[in-house]
Amino acid sequence: MKRVITYGTFDLLHYGHINLLRRAKALGDYLVVVLSSDEFNWDSKQKKSYFNYEKRRQLLEAIRYVDLVIPENSWDQKVSDVNEYHIDTFVMGDDWAGKFDFIQEETDAEVVYLARTPEISTSQIKAELGLTGKTDDDK
Ligand code: CTP
Repeated sequence: MKRVITYGTFDLLHYGHINLLRRAKALGDYLVVVLSSDEFNWDSKQKKSYFNYEKRRQLLEAIRYVDLVIPENSWDQKVSDVNEYHIDTFVMGDDWAGKFDFIQEETDAEVVYLARTPEISTSQIKAELGLTGKTDDDK
């Protein structure tokens, strides 16, 4: 069984996310998605997602390409995630190209950057709908 892992916030799930997940799953048999926690988003990026962690997790779990969703709580957990889940392929969108090459040196996993789907992003959806991403409501 070939295991694949990928990371992200996946807020306001859109077709760019689905394209990424479909291609990630096609690289193996079992896809683990490491989903940014609300605390990690806020502490590391000063970003508040529109949907909270539980809702984002439920949406991801309903996608046929996704086998397991676990939380991302820090920048430093990637090597231990790869080892713990016996990952063969570490996948990121190419907005991160080159940034995670060290995973290949420090683990047995291969690192693959997939081309982003053009002209769609959560930030763009929020901007076009006039959402700041920094409301106090727990949606
Ligand atoms: N992704 C993609 N194509 C897009 C948007 C996202 O392939 N058009 C990928 C990212 O490269 C990442 C994953 O989907 O591997 C999760 O991305 P995330 O940052 O959660 O989504 P974005 O839409 O990029 O959100 P933001 O605008 O807040 O950065």
